[in-house]
Amino acid sequence: MAPNKLAWKSILPKCLRSPEGPNNRDPESIFDGIPKHHSQLRLSLSGLSNASSWLSVSDLSVSLVNVHNFTLQELKEMTHGFSRSYYLGEGGFGTVYKGLVKEGLRPGLKAQIVAVKMLDLDGMQGHREWLAEVIFLGQLRHPHLVKLIGYCCEEEHRLLVYEYMENGNLDDQFFRKYTSVLPWLTRIKIAVGAAKGLAFLHEEEKPVIYRDFKASNVLLDPDYKAKLSDFGLATDGVEGGETYVTTRVMGTKGYAAPEYISSGHLTTMSDVFSFGVVLLELLTGRRAVDKTRPSREKDLVDWARSMLKDRRKLERIMDPRLDGQYSAEGAKRAARLAYHCLSRNPKSRPTMRKVVKTLEAVLDFKDVPAGPFVYVVPAEEESSRKTSQKGGEGNEQDHEEKKRMVEMGRVTGGQHHQRRRRGRKNGRHRPRSSRSRAVFSDTALYSSFDSSLYQFSVE
Ligand SMILES: Nc1ncnc2c1ncn2[C@@H]1O[C@H](COP(=O)(O)OP(=O)(O)OP(=O)(O)O)[C@@H](O)[C@H]1O
Ligand SMILES: [Mg+2]
Repeated sequence: MAPNKLAWKSILPKCLRSPEGPNNRDPESIFDGIPKHHSQLRLSLSGLSNASSWLSVSDLSVSLVNVHNFTLQELKEMTHGFSRSYYLGEGGFGTVYKGLVKEGLRPGLKAQIVAVKMLDLDGMQGHREWLAEVIFLGQLRHPHLVKLIGYCCEEEHRLLVYEYMENGNLDDQFFRKYTSVLPWLTRIKIAVGAAKGLAFLHEEEKPVIYRDFKASNVLLDPDYKAKLSDFGLATDGVEGGETYVTTRVMGTKGYAAPEYISSGHLTTMSDVFSFGVVLLELLTGRRAVDKTRPSREKDLVDWARSMLKDRRKLERIMDPRLDGQYSAEGAKRAARLAYHCLSRNPKSRPTMRKVVKTLEAVLDFKDVPAGPFVYVVPAEEESSRKTSQKGGEGNEQDHEEKKRMVEMGRVTGGQHHQRRRRGRKNGRHRPRSSRSRAVFSDTALYSSFDSSLYQFSVE
């Protein structure tokens, strides 16, 4: 074990990217020909997987510059004891709280609002996902990746501290009934931002496959700038366009690429497919999987794919909430792009670099018919409303959402029974969510599908 430990300590400091450092590329730099940095030296998760047991927190804190190692007590103070009124939401990893970093807590750390994600000790995820997040987001810095500010690793507790994203995630913004309609150009702006985040990951010298691209993993700042979050499933790809084969298929139903589901073949093109699904959601206003629809419309890709290249059919599937307020030419180009991203043949899909270029051109089509004023709920009002609605029981939106998630829960089947029940320390208070954790997160699906390819095994 000693040589491995030496490798970790000696390699990592050379490859870290501080926001000020030479490795922090500009958002547009994926196109500007800036020479590649030394990403081959980036510490990879696979290189650590066997080492995680001996990797100490002091190793992390020494090596990850600008990422702070917080104590559980500090995070408790930031979130007022993980108070219900600071609750932001809940996913497969655990509960997320709003927190406040006070001035002077750490040298170089400014006072700011943060999001604190706490591992659910009874949940399906654990140290590996936490470590993946710390290692990827701790080293990769880009304006379209959410910034990891710090982490906490005390006894069995695992927490992550991120920059706070005021407009929450795209899924909530787009599909929750109480939000206003996102205008056409805002949708394209979000798509461009998310595409830049993926392009950055794919263009690393050792490409990173994100693997769980979906609307709920796209976070939005007050200006609707999109940033990718959740690197728990991310993995280092194989250089030179080769295919990485995994026997453990993970991702989210409705977003995962068909070749990955059927054979475990994972490439950057798997992310391109998932991006195509989100783009299709933005065009049609429909969810990737919607069990409430008639059977032939339940799977968005199956239903929409053939209509994307036909202008007249496209008009019929565009989001009715847009009320025609979009550029016809822009929509045509975006639809054609979605069609190519969703190609069954991964080699026919465009690279994310090409996707960014195409979508940036769509932003330039300003022939959006003027319509009635669309009111966008101010971020502050929106987030406080979201918090109170999520904390409360029995409102109409939550009821709808619960119904949807329970249906998805039937697909994921049996997750409740697989949970470990472990005691809780520190008397921490966890608000009771109106949504079941097991059914809220549809990550790590496919286990109950017919094909044996969906069975879990060690990667
Ligand atoms: N940095 C952040 N700023 C603001 N809100 C956040 C931040 N990170 C997460 N959230 C919110 O916390 C909630 C849970 O997010 P999380 O990423 O854990 O789960 P998810 O994406 O909904 O599900 P999954 O586990 O399938 O990824 C979401 O409502 C999300 O918008
Ligand atoms: Mg998420």
